[in-house]
Amino acid sequence: MKGISLKLTWFGHSAFLLDDGEHTVLIDPFLSGNPAHQTDPESVSPDTILLTHAHNDHVGDTIDIAKRANSQVIATFELGTWLSMQGVEGATPANHGGTVEFAGGTVKLTPAWHTSSYQLEDGTFVAPGIPAGMVIRFGGKTIYAAGDTALFLDMQLIAEEQLDVALLPIGDHFTMGPDDALRAVSMLRPGIVVPCHYDTFPPIEQPVDTFRSRVESETASRVFVLEPGGVLDLTTA
Ligand code: NI
Ligand code: MN
Repeated sequence: MKGISLKLTWFGHSAFLLDDGEHTVLIDPFLSGNPAHQTDPESVSPDTILLTHAHNDHVGDTIDIAKRANSQVIATFELGTWLSMQGVEGATPANHGGTVEFAGGTVKLTPAWHTSSYQLEDGTFVAPGIPAGMVIRFGGKTIYAAGDTALFLDMQLIAEEQLDVALLPIGDHFTMGPDDALRAVSMLRPGIVVPCHYDTFPPIEQPVDTFRSRVESETASRVFVLEPGGVLDLTTA
C-alpha cells in the first residue's frame, strides 16, 4: 500500500533509490564508474528515474537502465529531449516550477545554481540546459533532492514545501561545501538531512561527521550519514 513504507538507499555520490514497496524511483544513477562504490546497474529496474542535470556523474547509467526497465525519465527540457533522441522512450522533458506525475508520486522541479551538460567520449559537450533541484512527493513523504547546487536564498521558498528529507551536496569545489550546506539546512528546515556528493573524488573529500555534529547542534534537523549501499528506513526515521 502506498504511503505506509518508504526506504532510501544511497549508492554513493548523488545516486539514491526510493522504494515505497510498490514503486521505485532512482535519482541521478552514477553507478558504473563510481570510484567510491560499485553497484551493478543491472541490479536496479526503477519505474522512474529523476535527473537533476546532465553532468556525467548524474546521468550515469540512465540510458541503459531506462531502455532495459522501460523507466520514465524526468529531467529539464534539453536533457529530456536529448535522452529521447538517444532512444529513451520514457523521457519526459519538463522545467522549473512544473510538477510532473510519475508512478506513485509527483516531482516539482526547482532552480539550482550550477551548470549542466553531458560530455561525450570525444570531449564534445551536448544536452546543454540548466540544472534543477527536485521536490519529490512519494511514499507519504516530501523529499528535496537538491542536485548539484550552490547555496541560494530561494531555499527559503523550497522550505515552504514542508520537507521531511533533504538530500544535500556537501563536497565543496563543484557544489556548496559543509559551511554553506549548514546554512542551507537552516533555510530548508527538513526533518532529516542526508549528505551526499562528497568523498567520491579527492577534490570533494569532507569530514562528514563534523558536518553532522554542527547541523545537529545548530539546527533542529537530524542528519543520517549513510555508507554507500546503505539503506535508511524513512517510515520510522
Ligand atoms: Ni554537476
Ligand atoms: Mn556532480
